[in-house]
Amino acid sequence: MKGLVLSGGRGRRLRPLTYTGAKQLVPVANRPILFYVLENLSEAGIQDVGMIISPETGKEIKSAVGEGKDWGLKVEYILQEEPLGLAHAVKVARPYLGMNPFIMYLGDNLIGSGIAKFRRDFEQSKADASILLKEVDTPANFGIAEVDKQGRVIRLVEKPKTPISNLALVGIYFFSAKIHEAVTKIRPSLRGELEITDAIQWLLDNENKVLSHRLEEWWLDTGKKDDLLTANTAVLDDWTRRKIRGNVDATSQVIGRVDMGKGSHIINSTVRGPVVIGENVHIEGSFIGPFTSIGNGCRIRSAVVEHSVVLENAVIEHIDRLEDSLIGKGSLIVQGNGNHHAYRLTVGDVSVVEL
Ligand code: DAU
Repeated sequence: MKGLVLSGGRGRRLRPLTYTGAKQLVPVANRPILFYVLENLSEAGIQDVGMIISPETGKEIKSAVGEGKDWGLKVEYILQEEPLGLAHAVKVARPYLGMNPFIMYLGDNLIGSGIAKFRRDFEQSKADASILLKEVDTPANFGIAEVDKQGRVIRLVEKPKTPISNLALVGIYFFSAKIHEAVTKIRPSLRGELEITDAIQWLLDNENKVLSHRLEEWWLDTGKKDDLLTANTAVLDDWTRRKIRGNVDATSQVIGRVDMGKGSHIINSTVRGPVVIGENVHIEGSFIGPFTSIGNGCRIRSAVVEHSVVLENAVIEHIDRLEDSLIGKGSLIVQGNGNHHAYRLTVGDVSVVEL
């Protein structure tokens, strides 16, 4: 079974961050979301992965993932000239996929479990599609499934205005070669995309077997700032272990599950885990609170930072309190004299913010 990872698209919703980068490479606990996707595929026994890329961000994805050796995978790249929808991506990938069954995995989806068990079920069932469902609070933002009392899928609607249920389609799908016929039968949706949801509906309408599973663990579509912070919190909470590779001076305290990279220094500061600190980070006279990720090369002086994601090489100085914030690469956040405030910021890459 091959994997098809979707890392194209334009990523409008994470702007300003994704003006300058692929949204699948935005880090959660200092690792790009896409790396968790590849790890999950590899752990489920997948060896060959076709990676859908766009002309805008394809180069960046390629240089981060390479040939996939870090995950024991063989990754091939498939260029989708325009983001015309998830079902369009399947069409573009058809020569790569051939007539084999495959797993399609959206490169911005993160789940709190492996997928090996879902793969096994799909292979044993001889179904033409298998989808994962999870309850959500905002059905209008997702593909939504209506299921009967036995859990059989009756109907699927992409981003319904009036919700038909609160069960969203998670961005991980298993398909037989039958999906290639389905994607040729559907028409673009109102948003101008060929929707995979419509293709699965076509399978249902034409008497093909569609399985569904409820996902018990957490799931995050990291397309928005708040989702990204929630994802960061979930990953730090579940997977961070204490590992101190840098230097902590005698006047500092590093408490709990803190993962700190080599070449980093903590001076006269308190860090309370779960926290991930990258390599060559300088923290001085500061408090770093729980659920914070700090990328490589950041400098934080005389600041309080909590529940935030700070991307590499950002500088934060003299800030009374920064919380629930997302700070882009290489940004400079400084507070002028006499201001004393708590801030919630979303700042794109290479910005300067004087408060
Ligand atoms: O995250 C789950 C949701 O993903 C499902 O509930 C929806 O049914 C499904 O349509 C999809 O909705 P989104 O609106 O969140 O999809 P988005 O446009 O964000 O694209 C998902 C990923 O696929 C993202 O990593 C970009 C990539 N992509 C997207 C399009 C439209 C491509 O590679 N090519 C494309 O043409």
